[in-house]
Amino acid sequence: MKLSCLHYLTALVVAGALAASAPARAQQTLDVLHWWTSQSERKAADLLADALDKEDIQWRDAAIAGGAGIGAMKVLKSRLLSGRAPDSAQLIGPAIQEWAELGLLLELDTVSSQNNWNRAFFPTIWSLVRQRGHVVAVPIGIHRINTLFYQRRIFNELGLTPPRTWAEFERAAERIKRAGITPLAQSSEPWQVSTLFETLMLSESTPAFYRQLFERGNDKVWFDPRVTRALERLRRLKQWMPEPVAETRWESVARQLANGDVAMWVMGDWAKGELQTMGQTVDEQFGCVAVPGTADYHLYSVDTFVMLAEDYASQGQQEKLAQLAASPAIQARYNQIKGSVSVRRDADPNQMDSCARASWRTFNRGALVQAPSLTHRMASEEGLKDAITAQLHRYFVDEHVPASETQRRIASLARALGNRKSED
Ligand code: GAL
Repeated sequence: MKLSCLHYLTALVVAGALAASAPARAQQTLDVLHWWTSQSERKAADLLADALDKEDIQWRDAAIAGGAGIGAMKVLKSRLLSGRAPDSAQLIGPAIQEWAELGLLLELDTVSSQNNWNRAFFPTIWSLVRQRGHVVAVPIGIHRINTLFYQRRIFNELGLTPPRTWAEFERAAERIKRAGITPLAQSSEPWQVSTLFETLMLSESTPAFYRQLFERGNDKVWFDPRVTRALERLRRLKQWMPEPVAETRWESVARQLANGDVAMWVMGDWAKGELQTMGQTVDEQFGCVAVPGTADYHLYSVDTFVMLAEDYASQGQQEKLAQLAASPAIQARYNQIKGSVSVRRDADPNQMDSCARASWRTFNRGALVQAPSLTHRMASEEGLKDAITAQLHRYFVDEHVPASETQRRIASLARALGNRKSED
């Protein structure tokens, strides 16, 4: 007994010595800053983290709560300024090019050429992730903002079909209200108000006009009667919303729809991802159609990650994340969870649910039907976006503010803050 105990101890000591002398394999890490904190967002981020883990890279999470990344962008900027940049961050829209221009972003040309990103991605996506011929971001998913969700049980019980026009919408809303249910969900968080407004603006006009408003910083177009009509509709829709409209987080609004407390909701299709985590399935518990008047258009936001080029110490891990995130296998699984659609043209629409298929096919029709989301940073720089959002919010909450005043205020902001593109 004594002997075997001694053997055991000796074995332990020898094993310990061997382990100590083996070259320690430092676990590689990747610090990732993003704003995905709802259940479905978390699940989608975890999928990426797990894929990295299989490559022996640990995803160190730096998630900053807050829909549409309002807080995350502030934290990202302050970390950058104080020399504590994360290895990777969610950065969206024209900011990618601006940051690349400042030399802040790692070029991903090798990953891109090894994986034929130029052929794999939709043209809009391909130009979004490049600056001066270099690839500087990895796209992960395309969200469709002009989506109207509806609770099927309520629609079935009341014998309603999902509205394709505003007249149909009004009729359905009337009927739902009479049944004692709130027809349209809404939060008064500023970004959720402007998310609704931009879909109404597209519904009143075309992607070309929409771009003039939000991309070009063109002040004159803000006086157009189509803007007045979109603002008026925004206010009229309040009659179908909860009274008062509270500052509810978007994930809680999703819960209201899942519970059947509200019948419809205009929100980007990340809402689909969230509804799925609540046990709701597309075409069973809920459905989605394009916001009336926008079926032919795609109001989009593309989720992208950039790699911060500090000292190149994490380049291997950064490139790995980029390669994995855009790969066909991850694209299919990730977007199913997140509610978005693949950035790849070779994705298979037959594997998608009806919401995703409509989104992917519409986006595939090209730039003429695509409109970049203002609220989700695809259209203009941050300052102009924030200024417009604040004015829209004010107009929405204060019924005394006339549409004409909001138009005048935004026009002068657009003049003062106008985009680089206004000089084109
Ligand atoms: C968007 C983003 C989505 C989703 C949403 C709600 O800006 O593109 O991925 O997270 O905000 O936070």
